[in-house]
Amino acid sequence: MSVYAETAYGRRSKDVDEARRIYQPKQSDITGKIIIFILAGLCMLLFIFIVIGFFFIAKPLTASLTSVEVRNLTYNNNTSSSSSLYFNATLAMEIRIENPNLGFFEFPTSRGEILYNGDVVGEMRINGQRVASFGDLRTEVSAEVGYRGNQKSPVWLKNDIERRLIILETRAKLRGEVHLKDLNKRTVNLKCLMQLNLSDDVIHRLWCK
Ligand SMILES: *[C@@H]1O[C@H](CO)[C@@H](O)[C@H](O)[C@H]1NC(C)=O
Ligand SMILES: *[C@@H]1O[C@H](CO)[C@@H](O)[C@H](O)[C@H]1NC(C)=O
Ligand SMILES: *[C@@H]1O[C@H](CO)[C@@H](O)[C@H](O)[C@H]1NC(C)=O
Ligand SMILES: *[C@@H]1O[C@H](CO)[C@@H](O)[C@H](O)[C@H]1NC(C)=O
Ligand SMILES: *[C@@H]1O[C@H](CO)[C@@H](O)[C@H](O)[C@H]1NC(C)=O
Repeated sequence: MSVYAETAYGRRSKDVDEARRIYQPKQSDITGKIIIFILAGLCMLLFIFIVIGFFFIAKPLTASLTSVEVRNLTYNNNTSSSSSLYFNATLAMEIRIENPNLGFFEFPTSRGEILYNGDVVGEMRINGQRVASFGDLRTEVSAEVGYRGNQKSPVWLKNDIERRLIILETRAKLRGEVHLKDLNKRTVNLKCLMQLNLSDDVIHRLWCK
């Protein structure tokens, strides 16, 4: 009995082995399938990351000055006089904010400043607003700028007034939120330089970061 059982078992198993050997898929087919599964998995992961990136992570926004108009410019034109040198003007600026996100961006009323040679010479108020998704917003901002040298006017001010060219820097940080599926805090930085020509009251050149 035991011998029969053994041989029977052995025979059967040999048959199965033979059958396996005949129908066994080639090794290259298996690796091909594995590669396809891995690629499909990677594609799924990529898709998931793209979806997360699109709906949950806010991209940075950009801000720039699109135009600046100079109004009521006054300045001390007499560099040889003993009275201190100064310049005074109102800048009417247009700021453009671009939002590349699917969600809208909302920022509260914020302050910005105008600098001349490192000193704050003017302040501006940017009203809180909403920038539409994939949209851009243009907003008007006005700032009074003024600088007065003390009794001994600094050399750079004398030079700038003599060549009638003042370079001003504009800076603002708009901290707000991009409204996506998740809340996203973002800051838009406005950082621009402008060249004010005292001879014709015009900003001829503007550079924005
Ligand atoms: C600035 O100029 C405008 C006209 O361009 C005038 O109406 C306004 O009163 C002036 N402002 C100052 C502070 O001089
Ligand atoms: C500057 O002052 C000179 C006289 O010193 C005058 O002739 C000239 O018109 C003034 N320029 C401006 C822009 O005020
Ligand atoms: C410039 O200032 C000097 C010294 O104060 C004065 O003598 C001269 O008349 C002034 N020139 C003008 C154009 O105001
Ligand atoms: C600058 O402008 C302000 C407001 O227009 C005025 O009060 C001030 O006297 C001006 N300063 C100079 C130095 O002209
Ligand atoms: C400033 O304006 C005057 C008069 O329009 C012009 O002659 C001069 O070239 C200008 N300067 C610069 C640096 O643009």
